[in-house]
Amino acid sequence: MNNLTDKDRVLIFDTTLRDGEQSPGATMTHEEKLEIAELLDDMGVDIIEAGFPIASEGDFRAVSEIAKRAKNAVICGLSRANFKDIDRCAEAIRHAAQPRIHTFIGTSPLHRAIPDLTQDEMADRIHETVTHARNLCDNVQWSPMDATRTEWDYLCRVVEIAIKAGAGTINIPDTVGYTAPVESADLIKRLIETVPGADEVVFATHCHNDLGMATANSLAAVAGGARQVECTINGLGERAGNTALEEVVMALKVRNDIMPWHTGIDTTKIMHISRRVATVSGFNVQFNKAIVGKNAFAHESGIHQDGMLKNRDNFEIMRPEDVGLSGTSLPLGKHSGRAALRDKLEHLGYEVGDNQLKDIFVRFKELADRKKEVFDDDLIALMHSGENAEADHLQIVSMKVVCGTGGPAEATVEMEIDGKDVTATAHGDGPVDATFKAIREIYPNKARLQLYQVSAVTAGTDAQATVSVRLEEDGMIATGQSANTDTVVASAKAYVNALNRLLVRREKTGPGADTREISYKDVM
Ligand code: KIV
Ligand code: ZN
Repeated sequence: MNNLTDKDRVLIFDTTLRDGEQSPGATMTHEEKLEIAELLDDMGVDIIEAGFPIASEGDFRAVSEIAKRAKNAVICGLSRANFKDIDRCAEAIRHAAQPRIHTFIGTSPLHRAIPDLTQDEMADRIHETVTHARNLCDNVQWSPMDATRTEWDYLCRVVEIAIKAGAGTINIPDTVGYTAPVESADLIKRLIETVPGADEVVFATHCHNDLGMATANSLAAVAGGARQVECTINGLGERAGNTALEEVVMALKVRNDIMPWHTGIDTTKIMHISRRVATVSGFNVQFNKAIVGKNAFAHESGIHQDGMLKNRDNFEIMRPEDVGLSGTSLPLGKHSGRAALRDKLEHLGYEVGDNQLKDIFVRFKELADRKKEVFDDDLIALMHSGENAEADHLQIVSMKVVCGTGGPAEATVEMEIDGKDVTATAHGDGPVDATFKAIREIYPNKARLQLYQVSAVTAGTDAQATVSVRLEEDGMIATGQSANTDTVVASAKAYVNALNRLLVRREKTGPGADTREISYKDVM
């Protein structure tokens, strides 16, 4: 049975690379976008919204490259309701085996006021733009932005226009996270019952999480007849985020008794992609986040552990393995060899080539010398710490930090800049401040520190700290990461990693190229 004839199949539309990446600070590099798209494709996502091609040269390049590479998924680009946007979008997705244009306009009274269009003018605009998109691509999705605050009669009218103009998917966004489950189900159900031609198209739901109801609202919309859920990995997205893919998919799997619909997602790939999205976006997952949080499968309290030992079902409604967490995880140690490391990394979802393995093995040995047991989380941190890569312009060579209660901290940092050795000493309010000042003395820059985040990878005082540093310079944002058993060393390396990324971004984009602010006001 294919997706269209299987009435119980819910299509998963992932917008991590568009709505997710739109979240301030979550900017990803070109390579990171390609990697995430490949993981999404591989896990069975039906439609990948790869970006907003008119927004920037970088977005355009990413959407076109993802379109060329996708193996299974439909590749979709977003466009506002104007011909220029739609043409650019069509151009970006044209190499996809299965392309889709997604065009939208804000239909609620508040959003209609932005381009200052009357109801009739907007209705005409919808007819013209969906028709134009349909002339360029057979697969068109249309969204009335802020649908949940749009007048009922007007919503029915514009949905009918979009269907008549050839849209095959009608997405009903809860743009500001305002709706509630009962209302969400009812809205989709009534639209399907009321709008002529509604039974010929797929209805989609796109919920934001401002009131913490995005997953509930999406599932309710499915109960009301929606057969496409729009979501992001880890719920990444503007403000409180979008519906989390992993929550919808696992809810449908675990509670299939009362929600008899299914998706095509390979759930064992969830943890790996969740970690990658957290790393590349710099948005850590909260420990108690459903499905993918560090504590989601942890059973710490004595009473829970006792219950678990007697019968896992006492406290576990799904198995960690279902989402790709390895059941048993024996730590590696300093006597573990290359084969054991490769085996463990493969188990964690990483395919490493011989050269990469050589590099990771050296760093693994260094870590194992400092730390008796190297756990899965240590290895994941190692895989993603922005350690000095050979191609990096800036590298930390050595550092010495003195701190105490008697005065300011002092840091002496030695760095290599394009092969030249430079050393500086600086004082600061604590060891990290002193270290960052020394780095700025060696490599003066005007990047602003937007985020400095430290978390312990595992338990114990010898635990590695992972540090994320987000820098902003002239509208360009870069996130650096590093992990080390020494928090100050990890901080310095994460800072330098972010500086290296800023440098790459500057070289690739030139002044201002990737920083254009797009406005929802530009309708025509
Ligand atoms: O939230 C929203 O309304 C959107 C649209 C562009 C679909 O993201
Ligand atoms: Zn959205």
